[in-house]
Amino acid sequence: MKPPVVLVRGKNFYLIDNFEGELHTHKGIIRLDELKEKNFGETIKTHLGYEFNIIPFSASDFFKLFKKSATPVMPKDIGAVIAHTGLSPDSLIFDAGTGSGVVAAYLAYFNKYGEVITVEKRKEFAKIARKNFKMAGLSNIHQLIGDAVEVAEGFKKEFDLVFLDMKDDVTFIPKAMKILENSGYVVVYNPYLEKAKAVYEKMREVGFKNIEAFEIIKINLEFRKVGTRPFTDVFHTGFIVIGRKI
Ligand SMILES: C[S@@+](CC[C@H](N)C(=O)[O-])C[C@H]1O[C@@H](n2cnc3c(N)ncnc32)[C@H](O)[C@@H]1O
Repeated sequence: MKPPVVLVRGKNFYLIDNFEGELHTHKGIIRLDELKEKNFGETIKTHLGYEFNIIPFSASDFFKLFKKSATPVMPKDIGAVIAHTGLSPDSLIFDAGTGSGVVAAYLAYFNKYGEVITVEKRKEFAKIARKNFKMAGLSNIHQLIGDAVEVAEGFKKEFDLVFLDMKDDVTFIPKAMKILENSGYVVVYNPYLEKAKAVYEKMREVGFKNIEAFEIIKINLEFRKVGTRPFTDVFHTGFIVIGRKI
């Protein structure tokens, strides 16, 4: 077996990206070189005898196990973006800013035959994202470092999707109109209502059509002996505004 793998016990997950040294867990120490002789579906024991399951690192782990810099977008919101834009697996996508790279990774993963160009202004964040992309085995992501508004000047009308999760989203909307193919989508993710409204109005002003603004709320269910109840650890994440170039 080769890294990366995930060790799991109950609610605890550990991402292992090399098989050297020791892993200190809440249930004792695991010698990582022992993983070389193991297979998925087997377990590995800590020095205290507690077992951890060994499972492959998969796309479902991007949000949970990627190293984090800026706050990433949650899977519930990324899922909505993919469905609402009908993402085709041979798309050219512009993603700004990269942050931890969670959005870029999902867009690349579901866009097997296409490419994602992701732009981040902070070098140190881009470096963390680069490691995440490498670990995920994603080779169809191209990272650029700089101000996305300026970087966009260097592109022509060629993108199928523009995804914005950065400060200057309103300023970027006219540029999105320029670099999108006909029938392409622009999607903006912003945690603040005033910004989401300003984005919506700007999209209308520059001629985007079928504009929609919404928020996805995920409510978990807790099944206990005494009964079932809904709960949520994070209620509000961000507003999504989508427009189409028609
Ligand atoms: C909330 S994070 C993005 C998280 C990312 N979507 C993810 O899922 O991991 C916002 C990022 O945009 C970057 N940023 C802000 N303004 C920018 C700009 N004008 N050009 C490029 N990056 C920018 C910030 O440095 C930050 O890393």
